[in-house]
Order: sequence, then C-alpha cells, then structure tokens
Amino acid sequence: YLTNRPQFVRAKNCVSDLMTCSVGAPQGTVLKRFSDNIKPFSAFLTDTFGRRHSYLRISLTEKCNLRCQYCMPEDGVKLTPKAQLLSTAEILTIARLFVHEGVNKIRLTGGEPLIRPDVVDIIAELRKLEGLKTIAVTTNGLNLARSLPRLKQAGLSHINISLDTLVPAKFEFIVRRKGFHKVMESIDKAIEIGYNPVKVNCVIMRGFNDDEVLDFVALTEKKPVEVRFIEYMPFDGNKWNFKKMVSYQEMLDQIRQHWPDIGMLQTGPTDTSKTYQVPGFKGQVGFITSMSEHFCGTCNRLRITADGNLKVCLFGNTEVSLRDVIRSGASDEELLQIIGAAVGRKKKQHAGMFNISQMKNRPMIFIGG
Ligand SMILES: C[S@@+](CC[C@H](N)C(=O)[O-])C[C@H]1O[C@@H](n2cnc3c(N)ncnc32)[C@H](O)[C@@H]1O
Ligand code: SF4
Repeated sequence: YLTNRPQFVRAKNCVSDLMTCSVGAPQGTVLKRFSDNIKPFSAFLTDTFGRRHSYLRISLTEKCNLRCQYCMPEDGVKLTPKAQLLSTAEILTIARLFVHEGVNKIRLTGGEPLIRPDVVDIIAELRKLEGLKTIAVTTNGLNLARSLPRLKQAGLSHINISLDTLVPAKFEFIVRRKGFHKVMESIDKAIEIGYNPVKVNCVIMRGFNDDEVLDFVALTEKKPVEVRFIEYMPFDGNKWNFKKMVSYQEMLDQIRQHWPDIGMLQTGPTDTSKTYQVPGFKGQVGFITSMSEHFCGTCNRLRITADGNLKVCLFGNTEVSLRDVIRSGASDEELLQIIGAAVGRKKKQHAGMFNISQMKNRPMIFIGG
C-alpha cells in the first residue's frame, strides 16, 4: 500500500483524495487508491521514520484551579494575554484540518480544560467531524461531576481524571488546594454515567505518594477504573530530580509482592500504557513509562498549546506557531505545508531523562501532558 512504502512517505505533493505524486514516481503520475473506502494516511502527518500521527492533543487553556507541585511552578506562571490564545474558531479550524488529514483521536487538555466556558460547544463541534472516532478529556475532576451529563451528550467519549492520593490531607499538600471529595465524586459519577474504563492518572513521586501504590491497585478491585501510574517527568519549574522518580519496574515489583498473580494485558501498537490486572478485579492498572522506557518508536501524538504552537514532541522544545500562520490569512494548503515540515523535523526519539531535566521546555501546565 502506497503510504507503507518509505520512498513515498515524504511525498508532500500527494493530496489525500486523488494522489498525484512527484516522489519516487514519474512526474505527475496518478496513483489510484486500492479501495475507495480506505483513505491513505496523510503524508503531512507522517514523519521520516514512518510514524503516522493520528492523535492530537489540544490545550484549551493555560489556567487551572489547582496548583499541582509536579506541574505548576511554585511562583505560578505568567499567563499569555487572551488575544494571543487560540479562539474557539481557530481551535476548530486546526482540528478540522488535522481530522481531514487522518487524525482520529483528539484529547482536550490544559491547564484545566473544563475551566473553558465553551468546552461543551467545542466538543459538540468536534463531534461533527467525520473520521474523528475519539474525543477525550484529561481533567483534574474538580468541576467534572456537574458537567458530565452535558459533556457526554455533546459527544465526549473518554475521560481521564487526575488523582494522586487517596488521603484528603495529602491531596491538599500535593495540589495546594482543597477538593479531594469533589474529585472522588467525579470518578464515581463518570462510572455511573457509563464511561468504562474511567482512567485515573496518578503521578507517583517518592516521599509524596509512593506509599499509596498498593492502595490505588486495591481501588481497582471494586471500581471499573484504570489507574495509570505515571512516572514523574521533568518540566520547567517542577523541581524534578532522579531520586523523586519512581520507575515502573519498582512499582510493579512492589505490586507483585502483594498480588503475585497480577497479569499483563494486551495493548494496542500505539498505546503508551503497559496494562495489568489482578485476576478477579473489576478494574486494571497501567504504567506510563515515559522516563524508564520511552515509547518514541510508536509515538503517534502531536500537541497544540493554548497559544497555538504545534509541538511534535512532549520533550522537544521546538515549536511552530499555527496561530500566526492562520492569522496571516494562509490557506489550508499553506498551513498543511508548515505542519508537514514540522512533523518532518521530528526526531527519532527524545533525549534521555537527565538531559531532559537540564533542557529548557515549557512548564507542564503550558503543554497539557
Ligand atoms: C497537565 S495536566 C492537564 C489536564 C488536567 N488539568 C489534569 O490535571 O488532568 C495533564 C496530565 O499531566 C500530568 N502531569 C503533569 N505534570 C506531570 C509531570 N511532571 N510528570 C508526569 N505527569 C505530569 C497530570 O497528572 C495530568 O494527568
Ligand atoms: S496537573 Fe492539571 S490540575 Fe494539576 S496544576 Fe497541572 S494542569 Fe492543573
């Protein structure tokens, strides 16, 4: 199939519907699709290593109602003036273009995405995009319970809720705000309303919550949730150090001592999580091993920051402003050329964790995870 063949992957002159290709084929050759039902994956979203970027994460806001220690620098962050943030129309223009080129999953993140007043309208508009199969949100869960029915009705298909501790007092320490019970209520409401599994993102940090790994696994006995243990990652201002990071292997060893028969589940080729289940438990646990075992080889993600920059790698600091291109009046084709060039520059893999911790990058709150 055409786009499986490396010599064609960078064929930027290929357009999605009828492909007139100038790379590896005589000038102007028209290459027919094998099936009218299968659209070839966009060359603009395919990088030089053949990775097809079908998953877009869009940050809806830089603002947040929590101040998590691992995400928000202690002194806070200087927010970008509103006029420099993407408008709703610009977000939808970008989403439309990416979905047209083959993106089938969009995750809305932030900051706290549910703070954005028109988040339900954005989801309802995304829902209309043909080819978009998954609309997900990552939220701290503080405002989720009451808006869940409207979000579901609008078309939200998947939910990740962040929760790093099951101890209310510790919650206040880690996120520097109150709200533990609201988050728990949101998790229960999301289960009740039919999301399955509800994913619970849990960043494990030594000396903070590494003593709660087993309690989080125990939570999956009765609740159909997938607790995702995330290795603590370095970003600007989050005081990361190697000693605070608890690796996947260390967590798994700890869990195995208690539940020796925990078994690994099969995951999809682009899944970043290694998933396990204790036999008989309703839920499961996953590990996001960004630090100890990166998954760059199968990376299919691109990110748009709230101020409209395209980020091709979470740990890369090169960005290109799609906002500026859109505001200059560029056509979709011109915008695609710029996106394609940025994707084409994506490196095979990101630097190792020590180099990342020395590197200048945005604070996580400006990226969105
Ligand atoms: C930046 S938040 C944005 C969405 C929302 N406010 C939330 O907390 O779910 C997205 C995810 O990134 C995770 N995250 C933030 N900083 C992190 C870090 N330093 N290492 C690992 N994960 C981090 C959070 O736990 C959260 O699950
Ligand atoms: S992790 Fe989410 S909730 Fe916590 S400060 Fe960052 S954006 Fe806010």
